[in-house]
This record gives sequence, structure tokens and C-alpha cells, in this order.
Amino acid sequence: MAHNTTVTVNVALSLNGMMAGRNGRRVRISGNEDMERVHRLRAESDAILVGARTIINDNPYLGINEKYLMSDRRPARIILDEHLRIPENSNVLNDQQETIIFSSSSREELGHARIVRREKEGLYMEKILDDLGSMGFRNILVEGGRDVINQLIRSRRIDHFYIYLGNIIIEEDGMPLFRHSHEMKLKFLEVSGLGEGVIINLDPQSLYI
Ligand SMILES: NC(=O)c1ccc[n+]([C@@H]2O[C@H](COP(=O)([O-])OP(=O)(O)OC[C@H]3O[C@@H](n4cnc5c(N)ncnc54)[C@H](OP(=O)(O)O)[C@@H]3O)[C@@H](O)[C@H]2O)c1
Repeated sequence: MAHNTTVTVNVALSLNGMMAGRNGRRVRISGNEDMERVHRLRAESDAILVGARTIINDNPYLGINEKYLMSDRRPARIILDEHLRIPENSNVLNDQQETIIFSSSSREELGHARIVRREKEGLYMEKILDDLGSMGFRNILVEGGRDVINQLIRSRRIDHFYIYLGNIIIEEDGMPLFRHSHEMKLKFLEVSGLGEGVIINLDPQSLYI
């Protein structure tokens, strides 16, 4: 079935495949060159999607540096937060960009964010992506975390998958992105050096088998 949204996943991994440290501790894996690449990816997107625990653990702004903006329009921030657990003072709830929270909560707003209320079945990833398409979002950049990215893999709705592989090893009880129970061979479309790390353009189709 043809879909009207393009989904791009971007994630930074340590050399041993971790997204974060023990108990989700935030680790800076990317360098400045990679942050510039991420800002460019944000500028090409009309929405940036993340899960609630990324907001709770990392408290990002998901903003975009002026110099990368291609128009006046900044990408909207989309938070998946079924139980509305993110703190009211989260940076992402500022008034700098539109923010939309998908939740089962009956609240209508949190900070400057609008809440889109959905029951359990409306929070399946496929439904959320279709909803975002109906709202006019065409290019969606997914910036984590593990739970959200793995739902997207299961839904087979990823068009582009970029991994920044950093020159760092994280403790073995950190948070690996992939927790497959079997061996899988993947396809790299392109690999290039960036700063002190490597960018892998991974073929998402090779994850679906
Ligand atoms: N290295 C990187 O590039 C990178 C990027 C981003 C994040 N991270 C790391 O990843 C960690 C977070 O990953 P994570 O897997 O723990 O969490 P996550 O994917 O950020 O968020 C998961 C939570 O979001 C809510 N959620 C997920 N899917 C939903 C849906 N379809 N509808 C509504 N709500 C939904 C759920 O909240 P409820 O449990 O309340 O239902 C779920 O527990 C952080 O520690 C962060 O440091 C790393």
C-alpha cells in the first residue's frame, strides 16, 4: 500500500551498538559535525518524532539552528506519550515550535503542546503515521528512542535509516538498539566518515526479513 509520509530514522550508536548508558543514561555519542548533519535533516523535515522516555531522560529541545532553516517554517515536534508522563517543564514544551503529543490523556494541552487524544488502538504506529499524514506532515524524522524505532521496524514503515556510529564504547548493560533473537545480515547502502565517526545509510528493507 502506498503511504503519503516519508519516514527517516536517525540514531547515534556506540561501537558496541548502544543508544544510551545503563538505565537510559544519556551519553553524547555524536560530535559537532554530526549535530550539523542532524540539524540539516531536521530542516528537511516537517515533523520530528520521539517517544516519551527520550524527553524524560534527555530533555531535548529538538530545535533547529537558524542557519539551517530553509523557510520560516520550523518542523513540529511530535511526542508519543500514552500516559502523559513527560514533565510540564520539559524543554520541548516551549513556544519555539509547534508541539503535538499523542496520548490517551483527556487533557487538551501541556505547556505549549496540543494533545491529540487517542485510545489504545489509535496509538499503533501505523495509525499514528496515517494520522500525521492526514495532518499534512509528509517528511517525518524519527530521533528515538529504542521503543519507538523498534515499533517502526515492526511496522515496516521506514524509508531511510541513518546510523552515526561513534568512536565510543558504552557499558555492556547500556541500551542496545537492536535486540534481535537471531542473526541477521543487513545491507548498507552507503558508508562515509564524519568527524570522529561513521555514517551508515542502512537499507531499512534489510531489517524487515
Ligand atoms: N543515541 C541516540 O541517537 C538516542 C536518540 C534518542 C534517545 N536515545 C536514548 O533512548 C532512551 C529512550 O528510549 P526508550 O526506548 O526507553 O523510550 P522512547 O522510545 O523514547 O519512549 C518510549 C515511551 O514512549 C511512549 N510510547 C511509545 N510508543 C508509543 C505509542 N505508539 N503511542 C503512545 N506512546 C508511546 C511510551 O510511554 P508509556 O510507557 O508511558 O506508555 C513508552 O514507554 C533514552 O535513554 C535516550 O537517552 C538515544
